[in-house]
Order: sequence, then structure tokens, then C-alpha cells
Amino acid sequence: MTMLYYLQSLLQFSRHEPGVTHVLVTGGAGYIGSHAALRLLKDSYRVTIVDNLSRGNLGAIKVLQRLFPGPGRFQFIHADLGDAKMVHNIFSENAFDAVMHFAAVAYVGESTLNPLKYYHNITANTLLVLEAMAAHGVQTLIYSSTCATYGEPEQMPITEDTAQIPINPYGKAKKMAEDIILDFHKNSDMAVMVLRYFNVIGSDPEGILGEAPRPELREHGRISGACFDAARGITPGLKVRGTDYRTPDGTCIRDYIDVTDLVDAHVKALERAESGKVGIYNVGTGKGRSVKEFVEACKKATRVSMRVEYLPRRPGDYAEVYSDPTKIKNELNWTAKYTNLQESLQTAWRWQKAHLNGYGTTLQVMTV
Ligand SMILES: NC(=O)c1ccc[n+]([C@@H]2O[C@H](COP(=O)([O-])OP(=O)(O)OC[C@H]3O[C@@H](n4cnc5c(N)ncnc54)[C@H](O)[C@@H]3O)[C@@H](O)[C@H]2O)c1
Repeated sequence: MTMLYYLQSLLQFSRHEPGVTHVLVTGGAGYIGSHAALRLLKDSYRVTIVDNLSRGNLGAIKVLQRLFPGPGRFQFIHADLGDAKMVHNIFSENAFDAVMHFAAVAYVGESTLNPLKYYHNITANTLLVLEAMAAHGVQTLIYSSTCATYGEPEQMPITEDTAQIPINPYGKAKKMAEDIILDFHKNSDMAVMVLRYFNVIGSDPEGILGEAPRPELREHGRISGACFDAARGITPGLKVRGTDYRTPDGTCIRDYIDVTDLVDAHVKALERAESGKVGIYNVGTGKGRSVKEFVEACKKATRVSMRVEYLPRRPGDYAEVYSDPTKIKNELNWTAKYTNLQESLQTAWRWQKAHLNGYGTTLQVMTV
């Protein structure tokens, strides 16, 4: 890259350009953020990722840099969103039109062990991002929230009007961040969309990106990671906790949303965001699947007959959680399309097998 080309590119990121929407994707080196950045870039948005790489992968950034090398298309800024001065510098030097704020620590179990980390990283950092947006006149915010803000409601499915009574620091930190955004919004003409995701699975169908959490985070991990680890023999088998819930097969029921559908909801939210308005949406399929169903789908997707150990309940797990996605369908014309659990897991498994060390080593060149 010549110096002139580099300077020209920087200039493009620092100026608003008619017809080009420049999106700041925080946490874009992570699982969902990287998929969102890929989709935005494919749709011709200008993208800046800010990530401190505490959990995400430089490998995902390199994939995006390789695919979108053109001037003013994509840039990566390695920075911590907890550093107020740095955040304000980033907003001063770049002309963002919108922010998708994904960056967060995001494990329920870890949040109960280290709550202050969660309040700091999620709540305090969202406040900093919002302050920087307000100070620099950035008009659109798409915020990554979670069904964990609802806690354990008795009535299913969960609608956006279901009371939010979170029961762990992760859910509470996200709820507080939502409250900060909504309070700020009362006296602002910012366009705000709050998306509350259910359980995210899968990876992009072209096999460009995947989910690659750090090995040290495995113990806090999510069910698909645990299934794949068992299928690869990294763990001796899969532990299913709780078989005596009041559900048809006794295991917990969750709403699994494919990451491709989820990022589509973000793009629709961005397209429909209106100045001075706030939209709050559940992003789920509306269909609950039991852990047993999930395990069977994973066995079929991986074609590995992993050992499954059934253990007593884990404290704090609730029996049944699934969304009512009617509002997002009616208002944003979004519905989940990738609803075949086995197919979503097959796609993710293909990427896992081709990337045995996550983004560290690519064993097989994936066709793009
Ligand atoms: N994965 C799910 O099932 C799920 C469900 C509901 C909501 N969410 C939300 O979606 C968002 C993305 O989750 P994910 O699963 O992609 O997680 P992830 O850990 O893969 O990605 C999070 C990214 O944020 C970055 N980050 C964290 N703290 C940062 C900081 N202080 N400064 C800069 N970057 C920082 C990490 O390095 C990482 O790349 C989070 O806000 C999470 O709460 C995820």
C-alpha cells in the first residue's frame, strides 16, 4: 500500500460522503460483530471496526481486510472502549453515520463470578459510546441487547412488553445500558434500535467466518461450542444439566437464532431507523427447542455420536425461554429464515472442521 493510497483512504473515513453510510461496528472482531461487518461490507456500507481483541479474533479482521481492500471500504482500529479519551479521538477522526454497538463481555456464568467487569464493560462503556455519539453528532444507534434482560418470566412467549427483571449481572448490565440509552433518547433526535437477541448459533453459509471463542472461555461457553468440542474430542462428552424441568422431554427449552438471520435484522433495523424514534425488538425464531433436540441435531450435523451425560440442574437456569417475534415482523418486515437447527449447525461445523485452531490456523482454503 503506498503512502498516498493510505492517506486517501484515511480521508474517506474522516468525511461524510453522500450516498455512503459509514457504520462503526464495535466488537467487530467477535462472533456476531464480524458477521455483521461482513454483511454490511457486502451491502456496500463503509465499515470501521473498533475492538480491543480481548475476546475477538484478529484472524476475522484479516479475512475482512483481504476481502474488502478498496480505499474507504473497511478499517480496523485496535482500541478499548473503556478508554474515554481514545473513544473521543476515534469519533473526532472519523465521520460515522451510525453505530452498531456489539462490543461486550457476554457470558452469564462469568458475570456472576466477576460482576464489576460486566457493569464496567457493558454499562459504563455503553455510556461512553453514547456520550461520544452525542458529542460528535452521530445520529443512529443499533444496540445489542439480550433476552437475559427479561430474567425468568412466567409467561411464554416473551414479547417486548414482558417485564424486564434480569437475574444475573450480565442481564442487569445490559438492562442498565438500555435504560441509559432510553433516558438519553427522551431529549434527543437520535434514531435508536434496541435488539434483544435470543440464543445465537451458526455461521455464515459461505464459510468465510465462524465462532471461535478463546479456549480459556470454554468453561463459560455456549451449547453449540460445547457440542462441537465434544464432537472433536476436545472434551470427553457433552454434559446436559437438568432433565426434570416441566417441559415435554424434561430438558430446558431455548430459542436458537441463526447469526445470518440476526445480522439481517441489524441491517433492516439500520435501514428503518428514524430520527427521534426508538424501536425495541426481540430477535428470535418464536420457536423453542429443547436441549435434547439440540443435541440430536448436533449429532446429525457432525455425524459424531458423542457421549452425553445427563446431570442435575444448574442453579439459575430457567426451564423455558422463547420469543414472540411478531413486532419485528410487522414493523421491520423481518422473519427468521435459517430455522433448521441441523442445517445451521452443519454450516457452523464445516467452519469448525476447517479451522481446528479457530482463526489461528486455516487448514483448508475456504472458497469465497
Ligand atoms: N452470542 C449470543 O448468543 C448473544 C446473545 C444475546 C446478546 N449477545 C450480545 O451480542 C454482542 C456480541 O456478542 P458475541 O457473541 O459476538 O461476543 P464475542 O465475545 O464474540 O464478541 C464481543 C467482541 O467485543 C470485543 N470487546 C469486548 N470488550 C471490549 C472493549 N472494552 N473494547 C473494545 N472491544 C471490546 C471483544 O474483543 C469481542 O471481539 C454482545 O453485546 C452480546 O452481549 C450475544
